[in-house]
Amino acid sequence: MSKKASIPSLGFYQNNTNLKWVVLVASVLISISSIYYTDILVDQLKVRERQQVQLYAKAIEYTANGDDTFGDVNFIAQEILFQNNSIPIIQVGDSGKVLSSRNVEVNESWSEKRKENYLNGELKLMAQTYEPIAVTLRDPQTGEVFGTQFIYYKNSFLLKQLIGYPYIQLSVIAVFGFISYLAFNYSKAAEQNRVWVGLAKETAHQLGTPISSLMAWVEVIRDDPDIKQKGMVEELEKDIQKLRIVTERFSSIGSIPILKKENVVSLINNVVTYLRPRVSSKINMEVFTLSENISANVHAPLFEWVIENLSKNAVDAMGNSGTIAIKILRGNEGKVFIDISDTGKGIPRSKIEHVFHPGFTTKLRGWGLGLTLAKRIIETYHDGKIFVKSSDETLGTTFRIVLDAA
Ligand SMILES: Nc1ncnc2c1ncn2[C@@H]1O[C@H](COP(=O)(O)OP(=O)(O)O)[C@@H](O)[C@H]1O
Ligand SMILES: [Mg+2]
Repeated sequence: MSKKASIPSLGFYQNNTNLKWVVLVASVLISISSIYYTDILVDQLKVRERQQVQLYAKAIEYTANGDDTFGDVNFIAQEILFQNNSIPIIQVGDSGKVLSSRNVEVNESWSEKRKENYLNGELKLMAQTYEPIAVTLRDPQTGEVFGTQFIYYKNSFLLKQLIGYPYIQLSVIAVFGFISYLAFNYSKAAEQNRVWVGLAKETAHQLGTPISSLMAWVEVIRDDPDIKQKGMVEELEKDIQKLRIVTERFSSIGSIPILKKENVVSLINNVVTYLRPRVSSKINMEVFTLSENISANVHAPLFEWVIENLSKNAVDAMGNSGTIAIKILRGNEGKVFIDISDTGKGIPRSKIEHVFHPGFTTKLRGWGLGLTLAKRIIETYHDGKIFVKSSDETLGTTFRIVLDAA
């Protein structure tokens, strides 16, 4: 367990966030280029549609001005007029009166008034979209101009679709990407779960046999009249007891633990009593509560593990001396609050959101699993909450656990 051990996990953690950035930047680039490319197509199609409308206007001009000597031209002009099946067009006279329309969906069953209103509405829309194209009317004989008409138009359905297409396409891809991301995360979490559970169970299982055997040996030693230091046997028993607790923790995290109504205050006192002689005497550990009897449904070995982990982190954050204060409160909405405060070096603001991630550690010999485990125990097994309530360089850190009162 040299300092090397902690580096790969931290490295993996950072790579993972880098990868997210790469994917994000790539998707933004793809989206922008896709929109840009369709934009070019849309512009080309717009030019083409305007040319088509100009041709249409010319055809009207020919038909209106044409004399019979241009019979063929007339025929072609008619052809052009009928060819336009896609661009909505409204032909307007000198006075602004609608003369005819094409590809504007007017329902034949509507009243004249309604048709007129509808066409005028469409006309307004077209006037806002594009400059109209003028049709000059001349007397076929004298060539004298006697009127001007205007052809208003707007984008064809095809063009409209093309304009909207990249957005629809990108939203579909975004939704699909989001679902895949969730699925990927879910399967990753499920896989991690199996590793956790498997490893924990295996550890508990392997510890079982030597512990039973140790217990038997302690019995033998206790009964041996040659052993004078009976105190030694007691110490051995304490250590075996601790080993059993560790085994139970591992075995409980590997299965769905059964919760029982427990007095949280006494569980926390147990942990503090256990830790006090094991930390520097310059570190104070204090438990504050207004009531000695606050209960919640918990799995005692796992809950104690959480308190132990948080307290150990607090000790690490304080170095040589300081105070760990554990406050237990009964909230009014049937909640139990447990605040664990230290007077340590605090967590930088930018790191707070990462402390519960597996592998996040700032310690030379850390594994970055303590808080991950604590979160899992509190949130998955106890349906509670655990979070950094406050953290400050000078005042230290407070972690809060929220559980349902029993
Ligand atoms: N009470 C605290 N004060 C300051 N930093 C903390 C505290 N608790 C946790 N941390 C930060 O969160 C990190 C992750 O903690 P943890 O998951 O227990 O892993 P480890 O203790 O192995 O580093 C620590 O390395 C530390 O940087
Ligand atoms: Mg820790």
